[in-house]
Amino acid sequence: MAEYEYETHEYDVVVVGAGGAGLRATLGMAEQGLRTACISKVFPTRSHTVAAQGGIAASLGNMGPDSWQWHMYDTVKGSDWLGDTDAMEYLAREAPKAVYELEHYGVPFSRTEEGKIYQRPFGGHTTEYGEGPPVQRTCAAADRTGHAILHTLYGQSLKQKAEFYIEYFAIDLLMGEDGACNGVICWKLDDGTMHVFSAKMVVLATGGYGRAYFSATSAHTCTGDGGGMVARAGLPLQDMEFVQFHPTGIYGSGCLITEGARGEGGYLTNSEGERFMERYAPTYKDLAPRDYVSRSMTMEIREGRGVGAEGDHIHLHLNHLPAEALAERLPGISESAKIFAGVDVTREPIPVLPTVHYNMGGIPTNYFGEVLNPTETDPNAVVPGLMAVGEAGCASVHGANRLGSNSLIDLVVFGRAAAIRAGEVVDRAGAVPTPPKAQIDKALDRFDNLRHAAGAVPTAELRLEMQKTMQADAAVFRTDKTLKEGVEKMGAVAAKMDDLKVTDRSLVWNSDLMETLELTNLMPNALATIVGAEARKESRGAHAHEDYPKRDDDRWRVHSIARVDGGNVALSYRPVITDPLTTEKQGGISLGKIAPKERTF
Ligand code: FUM
Repeated sequence: MAEYEYETHEYDVVVVGAGGAGLRATLGMAEQGLRTACISKVFPTRSHTVAAQGGIAASLGNMGPDSWQWHMYDTVKGSDWLGDTDAMEYLAREAPKAVYELEHYGVPFSRTEEGKIYQRPFGGHTTEYGEGPPVQRTCAAADRTGHAILHTLYGQSLKQKAEFYIEYFAIDLLMGEDGACNGVICWKLDDGTMHVFSAKMVVLATGGYGRAYFSATSAHTCTGDGGGMVARAGLPLQDMEFVQFHPTGIYGSGCLITEGARGEGGYLTNSEGERFMERYAPTYKDLAPRDYVSRSMTMEIREGRGVGAEGDHIHLHLNHLPAEALAERLPGISESAKIFAGVDVTREPIPVLPTVHYNMGGIPTNYFGEVLNPTETDPNAVVPGLMAVGEAGCASVHGANRLGSNSLIDLVVFGRAAAIRAGEVVDRAGAVPTPPKAQIDKALDRFDNLRHAAGAVPTAELRLEMQKTMQADAAVFRTDKTLKEGVEKMGAVAAKMDDLKVTDRSLVWNSDLMETLELTNLMPNALATIVGAEARKESRGAHAHEDYPKRDDDRWRVHSIARVDGGNVALSYRPVITDPLTTEKQGGISLGKIAPKERTF
């Protein structure tokens, strides 16, 4: 057994992750007087939310008529009818409140002439239940909205005396014998010490797992750490086959060019100079949802109408827009285009390609953020003491495809919801649970085995093999053949986890070991993704299956539930929640209006 000393800490709530969702949860918990710690492997304002550009969706109606019911409808349709209707209603209804709270906390939103929060159009956001013109619903701070939100929430959390544990890496959850979560064990990166955090509630806000792929807009820190910990605790992941490709990653680097660029009037062209989106989405054109636009771009390239020497990408034009508008509304991406593509956006188009951007799937939760462990008799069974929010979680508001700018609003609405719920269920007077010693020992043994891994395959080599397999075989378009091959290849990749080689055995700033721990988190996420994709014999949202081009609601309007144990993935399915929270009579949307139909734009 590995011998490590550890320091112990006790809190009402421990939040793991300090991005938008983690900080909003931390702030909400601390505001209610819950003793709250926030643990992060990076400095909070370096969390990936800082890279969110275009904005945050809420039906404020500052630029024209809008309503939460229209926002909800667009989200349901955007999800290709796989989202849970109660959660989607909660998101759309609470969004304006959550944005005004951000404004009052001090987020420096861009302003209209009258001083209201500026809102821009984004793909898939419409009026009149998808029958009217596009709506300006996305609230923006130029094209640095995530940066503005993250800094504000960090400052507010400090003001509320939340305690931060910065550059602590969460190794594993500590589960009690009764199945409740009792805490989390961490490695402090800068001095090598170990820390056991006991808590009445643990909130996973660890972000997505974009780095399971070769080319992603996600930061290198997006390694699905929450999903990895959950899988090792014997808990499931949900809807992992749905991976979003953002239409406009910069060709080569994958760096994000915000959808706000098209919201401000930008458009895509092929090698013939044609605005091809007019053919694929005659009504909403370049402002169709992301899955639609990414597929259309891929089809243009496949049919020989890509641009560049190898005909393998597409052009995004902003050069027709006034230079002053670009400087005011899109300064960040103007800079990125210069640095990463050598392009002056006022003169030339930007070379772009669909790039992995977001995971719709994650740790299943209800709309309060409580983690679910579905059983045959209770598909909505809650795991006591454990919550998941943000991209790590799956509430599920995005279903099979997320609308642009519904991510930032998901972070703050559900970070806030988790805090409200914790205020109700955490027993302030009760004792903090003591995690079983056996759980601590098990986590330390795993850590120690990886630290001393002396196999033949370096972590970086195996990670690259996984990333290339996922990129090739769980792509924008999928077939039975590519998915079957992908499952086989990923099985072989996962088997090599037992043959890893770590060369640095130290405990202080050991990036080799940290990346190895991250790989043990990426792997179950990647396996669940490709196995779930191979099993789903239909096309829905981001899962475009060429052998089954149609959506099949009778068989497949269900959430997939994946339990990953080493290299094995066991799949089951859970019903989608189709009832809204409020009926039409109470001001909600009628079930008839949100019933599944063909998804055209
Ligand atoms: O395009 C963007 O600015 C990204 C926004 C989002 O993913 O919601």
